[in-house]
Amino acid sequence: MTTAEASPTAAGSGANATEAFRASTARRGSAEASQERVSTVVGALLEAVHGVIGEHDVTYPEFQAAKAWLMALGEGGEWPLFLDVFVEHEVEAVAARTQQGTKGSIEGPYYLPDQVRLPSVASLPARPDEKGDRLVFAGQVRDLDGAPLAGAEVDIWHADADGYYSGFAPHIPDGNLRGVVIADDEGRFEISTVLPAPYQIPTDGPTGKLITAAGWHPWRPAHLHLMVRAEGHRQVTTQLYFHGGEWVDSDVAKATKDELILSPEKQADGSLRSDYDFVLERA
Ligand code: DHB
Ligand code: FE
Repeated sequence: MTTAEASPTAAGSGANATEAFRASTARRGSAEASQERVSTVVGALLEAVHGVIGEHDVTYPEFQAAKAWLMALGEGGEWPLFLDVFVEHEVEAVAARTQQGTKGSIEGPYYLPDQVRLPSVASLPARPDEKGDRLVFAGQVRDLDGAPLAGAEVDIWHADADGYYSGFAPHIPDGNLRGVVIADDEGRFEISTVLPAPYQIPTDGPTGKLITAAGWHPWRPAHLHLMVRAEGHRQVTTQLYFHGGEWVDSDVAKATKDELILSPEKQADGSLRSDYDFVLERA
């Protein structure tokens, strides 16, 4: 992806999210499903679709409109955006059934690997004139017994004060507001950054048009994205939100959880500070 191609419009961020997803499947691999599993899951999915059509008297014109919309979704590269907003939360809920420790949340389409590695007390890469309230986010990574996890990795990425992500919008330098912070010998970290803004699903592409056609709103509450890793432990992918923030109670992606809401406090120097500890289970 070149910076010139990246754009905060649906066409730009959709295509870039598609490219990022292709790279991530190459890196992580994708599941090999047995014939039995494909038959069970895809069969049930089709039955659910048939059920909706029958129950709601779906007409031929509506069926053709759905086909045209699905084609546009693919052509605009918006499958990752659409699936991460409307479907991923349920996959995460299934994963959460067997996960102890810190609650997870959706990864979304904007993770990028291999960002700058930073010491335990660090500022995220930011533009000299980075907009937004200063935020210090600090805490400790521990195991289920409360033992600190020395050298744990806190991989963090978030939108800027206008709601845009670096790597997916043309006007933001690569790596901005992204980093992998390495916790100290006591598992502690302290990250200085800025408060992100709520995120709006791009309104000019097929996903945005669907949201408008249905009369829904296109907003996610402001959030920090995190992947927390420590050797021998199960990685947690999650998000943290801000108490009282707009859309916290009506996230279009249904990815908020009560346990994941921060209440930052104003410091003497005017910055906000929030502490949050992560708990990882053994792998
Ligand atoms: C989407 C964007 C996000 O920032 C996020 O956290 C989840 C989903 C999206 O546009 O699909
Ligand atoms: Fe996000």
